[in-house]
Amino acid sequence: MPSSSEPSLDKSGKEITTVGFARFGFDSEVSLDVLRSLYLRAHYVKTVASADEAAKEADRDDASTSYLSKAIYHADTKSISYTTLSRFPPVKLLPPSQRKRILVTGGAGFVGSHLVDRLMVLGHEVTVIDNFFTGSKTTVSHWVGHPNFELVRHDVVEPFMIECDQIYHLACPASPPHYQFNAVKTIKTSFMGTLNMLGLAKRTKARFLITSTSEVYGDPEVHPQPEDYWGHVNPIGPRACYDEGKRVAETLTYGFHRQDGVDVRVARIFNTYGPRMNPFDGRVVSNFIVQALRGEDMTVYGDGKQTRSFQYIHDLIDGLIALMNSDETRPVNIGNGDEFTIGEFAELVRDIVAKVQKEDGVDVPRVNIVYKPMPTDDPQKRRPDTTRAKQVLDWQPRWTVQMGLEEMVRYYKAKMVEGSL
Ligand SMILES: NC(=O)c1ccc[n+]([C@@H]2O[C@H](COP(=O)([O-])OP(=O)(O)OC[C@H]3O[C@@H](n4cnc5c(N)ncnc54)[C@H](O)[C@@H]3O)[C@@H](O)[C@H]2O)c1
Repeated sequence: MPSSSEPSLDKSGKEITTVGFARFGFDSEVSLDVLRSLYLRAHYVKTVASADEAAKEADRDDASTSYLSKAIYHADTKSISYTTLSRFPPVKLLPPSQRKRILVTGGAGFVGSHLVDRLMVLGHEVTVIDNFFTGSKTTVSHWVGHPNFELVRHDVVEPFMIECDQIYHLACPASPPHYQFNAVKTIKTSFMGTLNMLGLAKRTKARFLITSTSEVYGDPEVHPQPEDYWGHVNPIGPRACYDEGKRVAETLTYGFHRQDGVDVRVARIFNTYGPRMNPFDGRVVSNFIVQALRGEDMTVYGDGKQTRSFQYIHDLIDGLIALMNSDETRPVNIGNGDEFTIGEFAELVRDIVAKVQKEDGVDVPRVNIVYKPMPTDDPQKRRPDTTRAKQVLDWQPRWTVQMGLEEMVRYYKAKMVEGSL
């Protein structure tokens, strides 16, 4: 969050107080403060010395802590006790005719948990299925027990039956170290997981949205990449399990659409960052911020001249919800076109970390930026052409990279206070 005196300004200089919008008969607008209360504060961990103090702490309920998972650390026995929430975050009371039953696969992951927060605050019934390979229960723990929410440990490689109106199919590891950890499993998740969820959509007549990726364009020869560019992918390289997995998942999606009339949506997501991103999964934004916050050298792979574009999580969630509720069945790129070289981006992160630390009264030395060899198949350049999203969804990114980075830095700082980073 920007410092308390500074409002969050969008790309046109207007203050951001809400995210989402009413479009295609679906109102996705919610207060930014409510969402921030779910991700930006440190989880509430209180250390107590005695049983008496612990009992008092368990009963304490004030506005600032009541929506947060509460944990009491007993210093004498070196144990931790978790208490249930006294109140859930407020959700809209929708009439049954407007309340949708929504399945989110991979809902305990980075993108999924933000989508779940938004859909829950909007008043819908949300079921998350996740095998917790890269996701974590803690990302959605503030909803567990809520009458509109269900969390199921399930691997999408196995069939799953549920009645629902919409399926957001996100389940798939997304960062290179995670999807390369077990390449065969990644391909199974992409292919069999998508097959199972499309089968479910066919049976229930639910609308199906898959989160595909800009990686389907591979190392592109066209800049920026429009949706009708077919891509340039190495089918046998170390990234192929993910890239080709998503390509075949798209093929399956359109197979079910043409053959069985399944109502499908395909979002091709470009590099997205935000709170709840795993700080150790090797993605460039989290790497840079964590290194700068710890005062370590920041590592740039290659000569730093390769370019990337970075989209903030709230823009992505706006785009996914708009796409789901629109009539667009063709693939739609969702990303932020503001391009940075990785070298420039490292400098930007370094400046923003320094600014936030200064605002918080922390004096830290300026960190160095060091260069290391580039990994195999890392694309040199990628930038979305988002003309289609603008035309058919009336969507375009609102968050500047600077604004998003400040929130991210504050989120990681809160994790450090909590002791989990
Ligand atoms: N974050 C990005 O920049 C980005 C870019 C392009 C596409 N995407 C896509 O968005 C989706 C979400 O990505 P993310 O960044 O949140 O990644 P993530 O790794 O944080 O989340 C993926 C979630 O899916 C779960 N999962 C993985 N395999 C599963 C399986 N077999 N069964 C059930 N659950 C399983 C994980 O436990 C995790 O909770 C993915 O489909 C990814 O390909 C993300």
